[in-house]
Amino acid sequence: MQRVADLDTPSMVVDLDRLEGNIARLQASLDSLGLANRPHIKTHKIPAIGHMQVAAGAVGITCQKLGEAEIFADAGFHDILIPYNLVGAPKMERLVRLARRVKMTVAIDGGVAAQAIAAACDAAGVEVTLLIEIDTGMHRAGVQTPGEAQSLARQIADSPGVRFGGLMCFPTKPAMGDFRSEATDLLARDGIAIDQFSGGGTGSHAVSKAAGCTEHRSGTYAYNDLSVWRAGNCELDHCAMSVLVTVVSTSCPGFSTVDGGSKTFTNDALQASGMNGHVREYPEIYLEKMSEEHGVLNLSRVAEGAPRPRVGEKVRVVPNHACGTTNLHDVVYGYRVRGARPADGSLTGDEIIEVEWPVPARGKIR
Ligand SMILES: Cc1ncc(COP(=O)(O)O)c(C=O)c1O
Repeated sequence: MQRVADLDTPSMVVDLDRLEGNIARLQASLDSLGLANRPHIKTHKIPAIGHMQVAAGAVGITCQKLGEAEIFADAGFHDILIPYNLVGAPKMERLVRLARRVKMTVAIDGGVAAQAIAAACDAAGVEVTLLIEIDTGMHRAGVQTPGEAQSLARQIADSPGVRFGGLMCFPTKPAMGDFRSEATDLLARDGIAIDQFSGGGTGSHAVSKAAGCTEHRSGTYAYNDLSVWRAGNCELDHCAMSVLVTVVSTSCPGFSTVDGGSKTFTNDALQASGMNGHVREYPEIYLEKMSEEHGVLNLSRVAEGAPRPRVGEKVRVVPNHACGTTNLHDVVYGYRVRGARPADGSLTGDEIIEVEWPVPARGKIR
């Protein structure tokens, strides 16, 4: 029997009760809204967790990269959405290979990507469904007007090798409702229907419903993190994932150093407040600064005489951004707390490891 407290550090650990609770809660919300669930697997990159999401009721999954889709197709997932433009010959070859064995849907926002996908699929005798991405104001990608959506939908409807499926946006914003209505009217004039409207973002599922989406893509909800908590979209107790680190120095007054830094937690969501990680065992202590392999805990809020971490002590840190952190870890340890959970969140030694999952889609940036 292995315990979290016995793990070498840094180690990514997941509280299985919380993970299961997060999966069940979102599924129940989407069911009550009548929205299909298509979780984004970028948060965990682990097929076993994807299977838990499908077992709970997800209709399919979302993968940001073909490399993730290949891993998940190998693991038995057969309905995969890639929600961004795929461009370039090597990508076309891999998309076609995937489309031969699973149902592939790709979101595009322009004629070049649509034409290339159609040509590759037509030549290979396969069909891929295309959704048109709408810019929700993030200015990352997406058509700007319903008129643009109309001409692109016409192009797709006229191209062999692809099928027009509908629309996609991220994150869903209320204005998407008006966009969808206008686009629906315009496309109806050409006899083209919007069957699928895919919205996304943890905490945005009610907005997806209001905007007329048919499905919702959440990713971070499975683990949750400090960014989701700060946005008011989860409780701290819903954060299922943390990184176990060891305190390696207490020499600098007011600070403690742990053996994980930006190569353990990522630093892509640093906060001006300096609150860059929540220490479960000491809620008043936070991860403030990171060098590559070390993190500095800020102890300024610890009361005089109150306990402080000692050198050699292990603590769990909930990161700002779960998905980026996942990409840095080879394995994840799933544990369950045996007996009562201490109110202060401290490690009791009764956190028993049930499963060790490799993270096969980590690093799949192509
Ligand atoms: C296209 C797309 N869909 C869905 C998601 C999931 O969003 P979240 O992690 O907020 O649930 C993301 C996140 O980056 C995304 O880029």
